[in-house]
Amino acid sequence: MHYNFDSCPDREGFGSLKWDKYRGRDVLPLWVADMDFTSAPEILQALQNRLDHGVFGYTIPHAAPTEAVLNYLQRDHQYEARASWLNFLPGLVPAINLCCHAFTRPDESVMTATPVYPPFLSAPDYAKRELIQVPLCLNAHDQWTLDFETMEATIQPNTRLFILCSPHNPVGRVFNRAELTALGEFCERHDLILISDEIHCDLVFEETVRHTVTATLNESIAKRAVTLMAPSKTYNLPGLACAFSIIENPQLRSRFEETIRGIITEVNCFGYAGLTAAYNHGEPWRQALLAYLRGNYQLICDFVRNEMPEITFRPMEATYLAWFDVSPLALKAPLAHFERHGVGLSDGTPFGAAQHLRLNFGCPRATLEAGLARMKQALGGS
Ligand SMILES: Cc1ncc(COP(=O)(O)O)c(C=O)c1O
Repeated sequence: MHYNFDSCPDREGFGSLKWDKYRGRDVLPLWVADMDFTSAPEILQALQNRLDHGVFGYTIPHAAPTEAVLNYLQRDHQYEARASWLNFLPGLVPAINLCCHAFTRPDESVMTATPVYPPFLSAPDYAKRELIQVPLCLNAHDQWTLDFETMEATIQPNTRLFILCSPHNPVGRVFNRAELTALGEFCERHDLILISDEIHCDLVFEETVRHTVTATLNESIAKRAVTLMAPSKTYNLPGLACAFSIIENPQLRSRFEETIRGIITEVNCFGYAGLTAAYNHGEPWRQALLAYLRGNYQLICDFVRNEMPEITFRPMEATYLAWFDVSPLALKAPLAHFERHGVGLSDGTPFGAAQHLRLNFGCPRATLEAGLARMKQALGGS
């Protein structure tokens, strides 16, 4: 089957968060993490079938999505999970927020590695928990990694939770087994619960790299891990609001379930249908998507190297989100500067890194080319 990622429907008039931000302005929206591509035809068909049924009642976590998730975990991530470990959720952001309430007391603190997806920073703040931010550092291969030395130096006796983004948004790093094992040991040493947000785990486009589900590394990590996943990033279904957690440890699971009770609603019937089709039938589309994203990534690498060398862009392995260090440009307001030149990026400040910008390359190549050309103009190039 040939999938066309080069053209996309017009999203105006559909209440798109991404596109409506710049409605009526000549600004290309390359910001929030949803892609412009239509979903896999296999998913569209499943949604059509569900629509044709015509009854949209409350829907429980039934056999089809449960089996789809368990098969997917086993097939793609060698994770032998059980149905009882799962909770279906209408989103991972509410889950991250509720984890702060479920697993910490008000006088306890949360640690995470920055820059990172903004809700990792706002969730402890909303829960009024202290947040310890430890910047990622560069390893000997010039890749972003966890800075264990600083983590050891800054952890407090009251720290209870570590929130990990793996693969990492926004730096696009896929942490390897050694790094994740070391993180597990760190959590064991300090008796931390590990929230492992792996929503980007099926977007590894670097062919030599494989994602490891943190909880599969060893029993000690499995006992303290809360794994968060969803098909929404990979298959471009975030508006269907269907995600899930995997918690092996029964004590942690019941604390989580008690906390979400009455707050987290049922997943809607289309969310379940989309998830089930994605995991059961989405693989050919996903492979085609990864090939397309690889091409977009290569385009950015070449363009930055040849046309915008003053921007620092480090190699990445996963996601469709490119992270630029624009500090050498010494701009007062980097986001507004590029918006004035017709490119809408994500500002680094809410990620914990001012003077950085994130570009979403989950878009047709022509859009990306236009966006990069506008960025070059914004730098004063032709
Ligand atoms: C690391 C990470 N977690 C969670 C989400 C969003 O999850 P949800 O839409 O299920 O709330 C995103 C979206 O970009 C993300 O990058």
